[in-house]
Amino acid sequence: MRTKIAAANWKMNLTFQQGKELIDRILTTAPDPGPGNKVVFAVPFPYLRMIGKKVKGLEQFHVAAQNIHHKKSGAYTGEVSAEMVKSMGTEYVVIGHSERREYAHETHEMLAQKVDLALEQGLVPLFCCGEPLEIREAGKQDEFVRKQLEESLFHLNALDLLKLVIAYEPIWAIGTGKTATSQQAQDMHKGIRAVLASKYGKEVADSIPILYGGSVKASNAVELFTQPDVDGGLVGGASLNADEFIAIIHALHS
Ligand code: PGA
Repeated sequence: MRTKIAAANWKMNLTFQQGKELIDRILTTAPDPGPGNKVVFAVPFPYLRMIGKKVKGLEQFHVAAQNIHHKKSGAYTGEVSAEMVKSMGTEYVVIGHSERREYAHETHEMLAQKVDLALEQGLVPLFCCGEPLEIREAGKQDEFVRKQLEESLFHLNALDLLKLVIAYEPIWAIGTGKTATSQQAQDMHKGIRAVLASKYGKEVADSIPILYGGSVKASNAVELFTQPDVDGGLVGGASLNADEFIAIIHALHS
């Protein structure tokens, strides 16, 4: 049985006070993610410590950074390193989100460096992949995602790969209200497992949690999470609403 994960991605939303209220509302209802399952909050850098303290001692709840820099340390004004994030008690880090690939021009190579730095610090990389609309319309999504995985992850050995969580997020479904159908998600997740199996073998491929992201909400979470290769979700907009996100956590049980 693979771990199922509900990951919140707050992106650049909420003030510190609003973030505090939201996490308190979610944690006071103490939603049960189900045996072995996890809930991860990917929050802005300045909130890592506060959220880290809130989830401390809650075995199934974790805090994640939304990014780290691809260099270890040095003269990179305004940037935040894997080591810094780790030293604040952070456990996970989102790497390769499509918004960073697009707006911060992150390349496959930079993402490979980030994955290495995260692993070096004992952070769990939550590695995102996914195709834009024009690639989906041209029917080239499988090759596109395969390349993303190969270029940024295939330098890892199997032991390190097993430390990762992967999130498939079709860009056309992010923040658009347009969710991939559960069949489209399942097909791609199965394809991602096949890509991983081609290099690392079936056992490794079958052990890695693969989350779906892109307009996940309370009303579609059960349908998505019950697909055989979908192990939960990376949730943007709906993670900013306590009731919605609590329902998404409950959907992990389904
Ligand atoms: P969304 O974002 O749920 O708002 O579509 C998902 C993500 O980008 O992680």
